[in-house]
Amino acid sequence: MSIQAPPAAKASLEFPGSLVLAGAGKMGDALLRGWLARGLTGPQMVVFEPAPSPELQALTAAQAIRLNPAISDIQDAAVLVLAVKPQVMPDVLPQFQPLAVRGALVLSIAAGKPVSFLEQYFAGAPIVRAMPNTPAAIGLGMSVLFANSRVTPAKQDLAGGLLGAVGEVAWIADESLMDAVTAVSGSGPAYVFLLIEALAKAGEKAGLDSELSYLLARQTVSGAAALAAQPDHPAATLRENVTSPGGTTAAALEVLMRADGLQSLMDEAVLAATRRSRELAK
Ligand SMILES: NC(=O)c1ccc[n+]([C@@H]2O[C@H](COP(=O)([O-])OP(=O)(O)OC[C@H]3O[C@@H](n4cnc5c(N)ncnc54)[C@H](OP(=O)(O)O)[C@@H]3O)[C@@H](O)[C@H]2O)c1
Repeated sequence: MSIQAPPAAKASLEFPGSLVLAGAGKMGDALLRGWLARGLTGPQMVVFEPAPSPELQALTAAQAIRLNPAISDIQDAAVLVLAVKPQVMPDVLPQFQPLAVRGALVLSIAAGKPVSFLEQYFAGAPIVRAMPNTPAAIGLGMSVLFANSRVTPAKQDLAGGLLGAVGEVAWIADESLMDAVTAVSGSGPAYVFLLIEALAKAGEKAGLDSELSYLLARQTVSGAAALAAQPDHPAATLRENVTSPGGTTAAALEVLMRADGLQSLMDEAVLAATRRSRELAK
């Protein structure tokens, strides 16, 4: 596995044709805004969205992004990004086949849809399957990518650059790991939100009013995450640095780190999500 750093704030994406986005819902919209922020221009982009929101209509009009044109009008698609719900894919994908036939890289972010499923619609095409997560909406996403054998290094750079525009990118060579990836980074933001909720509720039980307790919990989690995001700051070292023997943190960690504590719960949670991801893929 290799980690690719996110592009620097001002880095521009080089793009050899049109970028076609199918589906501008939560994740598609986050990607679109990330690409615009990284210097892709509206005329390079095409968006397909059956019921565009007023915000999307305003954005596409202001940026001169083509919205729902005829597929036959797109002759230079370099990448087709599939950001529709997995369950609608069998109905949606056939209309986009001509783009892949004309040489576009297919980049799917649909959860639980393997490359073998996509190859039924885009036979012979270079295909990248990716699992992003929702912090992509603020440029802090984590995306894991898998490429089929038809993806050239140049196309791999293209896919990595597109998802690198909204956060960090890692590649896997074994597609079966995508279920575990989904369980860790795809679903992971929800575990962290739960941690904030649980810490806030515990603070209330310790006597704080709910508003103050929520503020303390939220700011502590985001501050600690920012510290852990610095290079050369492993979480274990940061934890040890704030834990004096016999102190308050040590008293709490003794509870959280006991045999049936946080690690065992987290193991169980990630296994449950991995199993569910496998079931959904069937
Ligand atoms: N959200 C996440 O945390 C997350 C994380 C990783 C991966 N993903 C993947 O990202 C994909 C999108 O998820 P999402 O959360 O962004 O879902 P979403 O908000 O429902 O977005 C999907 C969008 O696709 C549109 N759509 C439906 N049919 C279409 C068609 N024929 N052509 C073009 N667009 C069409 C939908 O429009 P209508 O609403 O009008 O049907 C909707 O706006 C999914 O495959 C999901 O597995 C999501």
